[in-house]
Amino acid sequence: MNNGSRIFLVGFSGAGKSAVGRRVAHLLGWEFVDQDEYIVERSGIAVERIFADEGEEGFRRREREAIDELSTRDKLVVSGGGGVMLQEECRTTMLATGLVVTLDARPETISARLQASQGEKGAEGMVRPMLAADGNSNNRIESLKRERQWAYSLADWTITTDRLSVEQAAHEVVRAWRRVGRATTWESDPLLAATVTVETGAYPVLVGWDILEPQLGTRLLAAGVAGRVFIICDSNVIHPYGRAAQRSIHKAGLEVGLFTFPAGEASKTLDTASVIYQWLAEQRVERRDAIVAVGGGVAGDLAGFIAATYLRGIKLVQVPTSLTAMVDSSIGGKTAVDLPVAKNLVGAFYHPEFVLTDVSALTTLPGRALREGWGEALKHGLALDADLVDIYESKADSLMALEPRLTTEVVARNAAVKARIVTEDERETSGLRMLLNYGHTIGHGVEAAAGYNEYLHGEAVAIGMTGAARLGMAFGVTPADLVERQALLLKRFGLPESYTDVEPESILESMSRDKKVLAGQVSWVFLESVGHGVVYRGVPQDLIAETVRELRD
Ligand SMILES: NC(=O)c1ccc[n+]([C@@H]2O[C@H](COP(=O)([O-])OP(=O)(O)OC[C@H]3O[C@@H](n4cnc5c(N)ncnc54)[C@H](O)[C@@H]3O)[C@@H](O)[C@H]2O)c1
Ligand SMILES: [Zn+2]
Repeated sequence: MNNGSRIFLVGFSGAGKSAVGRRVAHLLGWEFVDQDEYIVERSGIAVERIFADEGEEGFRRREREAIDELSTRDKLVVSGGGGVMLQEECRTTMLATGLVVTLDARPETISARLQASQGEKGAEGMVRPMLAADGNSNNRIESLKRERQWAYSLADWTITTDRLSVEQAAHEVVRAWRRVGRATTWESDPLLAATVTVETGAYPVLVGWDILEPQLGTRLLAAGVAGRVFIICDSNVIHPYGRAAQRSIHKAGLEVGLFTFPAGEASKTLDTASVIYQWLAEQRVERRDAIVAVGGGVAGDLAGFIAATYLRGIKLVQVPTSLTAMVDSSIGGKTAVDLPVAKNLVGAFYHPEFVLTDVSALTTLPGRALREGWGEALKHGLALDADLVDIYESKADSLMALEPRLTTEVVARNAAVKARIVTEDERETSGLRMLLNYGHTIGHGVEAAAGYNEYLHGEAVAIGMTGAARLGMAFGVTPADLVERQALLLKRFGLPESYTDVEPESILESMSRDKKVLAGQVSWVFLESVGHGVVYRGVPQDLIAETVRELRD
C-alpha cells in the first residue's frame, strides 16, 4: 500500500522529470534518485552499452530490478525512465508503493528541451538519435507520445509543465502529494484566528487543516442555526468541498440543499443572483434558514449578496476555498455583484455568522490562483505585519509547498490582520482600511488597462506594490533596501514586478478614471518600514507617470 513517502515521476523525457524531481526532494527533505543513473551506478555499465550488449530486453529487466529496489526505500523521489510506465510490473509496483505523477508537455516543448539538453545520458538518449534522424522531431515525439499515452494516463496525477518553471512544477508535485498521497492526514483543531467585531455583533474566523467535513455541521448548530441550510457553491469546487459541506451538515441533523453556479467572475451578476433567488423561493426559504457560501471570492461575494438581500437578510456562513478568499474576501462583510460597466458596483455590507477556513482546500487550487493569492497575503505583511514578512522570507518554500501546519498558521495570521483592520474601520471611514489598498492604485490601473483576463488581481497588485515601493522611495518615504527586499519576496512567490504588452498611458488613464480617484485626490499607501504602511496624498503627477512607465518590462 502507498505509505505516502515515495514519489515516482514518469512521462516523456524532456518533461522535466530530473530537474523537477531534484527540486521536489529538496522541498520535502527527501532523497532523489534518477532511475537511469541508478541502473548505471548499480551495474557499472553505461546505458548505451546495456542496450548494445543486452538489447532493450536487458535494459527493461534492469529497470524492473531498479524499481523493485527503489520501491522499498522511504522518503524518496524517483525520476523514472520514459518507458517505465509501459512495463506492467513496474507500473503496478510504483502505483502500489508510491504516488505516481506524470509530467506532461507538448511535443514542441519536449523537442525544445531535448535539444537544449543534448549530450545528457540515459535510456532516453536512445530516442534522441531517432529524433534527429527523421528531421521532424515534433511529429516523431507526437506519435511516440500517442503510443505511450495510455500508460502515462494511469498515473495518480498529471501535471502539464509547458508553462511552468522547474520551481513551479515542483510545487505542483508537492501539492499533488499532499492531496492524494500524503502519509498521514493531519486534522488540526480549528484555530480561532480572529474575532471580527462589527456594529451588528462579533463573529469568529476559524482556520484549520482538513476541518470542513468534521466541523461545519456542528459549528452551524453551535451558531444557533436551527432551520435548513442552503449551500451555494461554484462548479469547480462542488467536488470535493460542496459535497463535503453537504455531508457535514446532513450529519449534524440539519436539512440541506445545494445550488451550483458556473465557476468564474462572469457569474457574479444580478442574473445569477435572480436565478438563485428563484431557487430559494421555490424552496420556501425562511429567515431562520441559513446560506453557506463554498468557494472562492466569487462564491463568497455572490452568496453573501444574496444572503444580505433575500428576505432582507438571512444567516450567512463563509467557507472560503481559494487563498484570496481565505485571507481577504471572506472577512470584512463586503458583498457584491458586478454590472457590465464595472465590478462590484451593486452590493452591501453583510457579515457572516462565522467563517470556516479549511486550508487544505488550497491543495487543489490551480497554481496561478494560489500564487495570486500570495500577492494579497504578502501585501498584508508588507503594509501591516512585519513578523509575517519574516515568515515569508524564511519559509517561502514550505509555504508554497503548502506545508500543513505552517500554511495553516500563516493563513490564520493573515485572517487576523484583515479582521483587525475591519474591526477598527468597518465601513472604510477612518482611513485604516485604506492600508489594505497597498499596491492597488497602480494595480487596478494595470488590471483595467490590460483587460481583466491578462493579469489576475493578485498579479496586478504585485506590479502595483513594486510601483508603490519605487514611488515611495522617490517621494522620500520608503527606504531603498525595503524596495529591494520586497522585490525578492515577490520573485520568490512567483509574482510579476513589471508588465508587458500594455501601454503605460492607458494604465495612467485607467488610474485617473478609478472611482476612488474621482472622489478627490489620489491616496497612496507607501511603506515607511516593513509592516508599516502610511497613507500619503499630493504625490506629483509626473513622478507617478514616470514610475508607471518604468514598470514596463
Ligand atoms: N469581498 C471582498 O472584500 C473581496 C476582496 C477581494 C476579492 N473579492 C472578489 O473575489 C473575487 C476573486 O476571488 P477568487 O480569486 O477566489 O476568485 P474565484 O472565486 O473565481 O476563484 C478562482 C478560481 O479558483 C477556483 N477555486 C476556488 N477554490 C478552489 C479550490 N480549493 N480548488 C480548486 N479550484 C478552486 C474557482 O472555481 C475559480 O475558478 C473577485 O470577484 C473579487 O471582486 C472580494
Ligand atoms: Zn486586492
